Amino acid sequence: MADSKKAELDMVKVTFVSSDGTRRAVDIAEGETAREAALFNDVPGIDGDCGGVCACATCHVFVDPAWIDKVGRLAEGGAEADLLQFAEGANEYSRLACQIPIEPLVEGLILHVPEQQY
Ligand code: FES
Repeated sequence: MADSKKAELDMVKVTFVSSDGTRRAVDIAEGETAREAALFNDVPGIDGDCGGVCACATCHVFVDPAWIDKVGRLAEGGAEADLLQFAEGANEYSRLACQIPIEPLVEGLILHVPEQQY
């Protein structure tokens, strides 16, 4: 009983919103990333081709404005910013899902999936 209770506490809920408005809430273990939250749950529109090493930008998401301060804005000058400058429709809420750690602080996080990744 205690183990199952602990397992529940280790899960964090993340909601992905497709460009057509479809919402998909998934549970992902603390310590994973938002990329894994999408891929492990077959969320359409997140490819994550490079395996999560910040080298492809096919995990581009728009952080819901209500969550951007908790997730953190894109740091200027880093590899993530370099990739996102070429991403379709990138804006001030853009992040790479593989660079968003899942932790209890982001329980209920909402991420918007771009219409396309290329
Ligand atoms: S999975 Fe390639 S940059 Fe995120």
